Amino acid sequence: MTETDFILSNFDVAKASCGSVTWKTPSNIALVKYWGKQEPQLPENTSISFTLNNCCTITTLEYKLKSEVQNSESEFNFEVFFEGKKKDDFKPKIQKFFQRIAQYVPFLKDFDFVIKSENSFPHSSGIASSASGMSALALCLMSLEKKLNPTITNKYFNEKASFLARLGSGSACRSIEGELIVWGKHPEIEASSDLYGVKFPYKVHKNFNNYQDTILLVDEGVKQVSSTVGHNLMYNHPFAKQRFKQANNHISKIKEVLQNGDLKEFIAIVESEALSLHAMMMTSSPYFILMKPNTLKIIHKIWEFREATGSSICFTLDAGANVHVLFPEHEKEKANKFIVNELIQFCQEKHYICDSVGKGAFQLTMDN
Ligand code: PMV
Repeated sequence: MTETDFILSNFDVAKASCGSVTWKTPSNIALVKYWGKQEPQLPENTSISFTLNNCCTITTLEYKLKSEVQNSESEFNFEVFFEGKKKDDFKPKIQKFFQRIAQYVPFLKDFDFVIKSENSFPHSSGIASSASGMSALALCLMSLEKKLNPTITNKYFNEKASFLARLGSGSACRSIEGELIVWGKHPEIEASSDLYGVKFPYKVHKNFNNYQDTILLVDEGVKQVSSTVGHNLMYNHPFAKQRFKQANNHISKIKEVLQNGDLKEFIAIVESEALSLHAMMMTSSPYFILMKPNTLKIIHKIWEFREATGSSICFTLDAGANVHVLFPEHEKEKANKFIVNELIQFCQEKHYICDSVGKGAFQLTMDN
């Protein structure tokens, strides 16, 4: 598929005069990280993530065909509500998203929209909501597209949803399907693409079935470095080239590990990725330290526990201080005890979220 395959040309707006659609869409956690991009939101390296199950956004898109005939000068018209409150400060991001995707979904200016969103996790938890938020909106738009052009296949629907979500927030393209999603063209991953996420196309070892992710909320504040600023730090970064090469090598390795079930090697790749992401931020200009003292305390506790018990528990990080604690399902009881007894003391107000690998987004309602 190329960009031009995603341009909708044959549609009839009269097929949808007014109605609403609701999608529930998960967040995801990258095992090999995406950090560094080129216009328009194309990744510098391949990334792979677990789709999550509990950390979700639910978005309803209400649409109503505009009454007067529009011309190409007309504007996007939409209102945004988040958790029941009108949110004008969310509008610029969505306006920019609409501008970016308008050539692919040319019906955007034909409708008045109301977008209503809520998260299953606390908004201020420091968990990135852009992945689930943008993928939910992209899916709602695809449901509307399907009404206008009912012939599209499920495969096309998902690929285009991922393609549109990517233009809103890169990692959002990995939040359409489950359970393992690859984004970014890689010579060893069949059908991988820079344009959208694809399901990991090989048989996954049972060790990774229902893998667990407990998110320790070390810092519930707003992100210190937005991902836009973060990605830009990779331009002219002294180690950028090496980093992109390292990530692509990690993809080759993790492709094998996911099939052979080697948890030791899995841990080595996943923890190295988390620390490399943070190392990039510490060595950029300007530089940042996004870990907090408690992030490091948790990491050391995990290493000690692993050493002492032979457990396969490990950690990964996003671009912030919170820690994702990953472990196989059969270690759930042991790991939960350890987390509650030894780790949550390092969380803000002992807050944490238990999650696991999920199957992807699903449509809750669609009516006329
Ligand atoms: O999708 P963005 O632009 O918010 O970037 C997210 C980048 C990381 O979460 C740090 C890593 C990843 O691959 O998800």
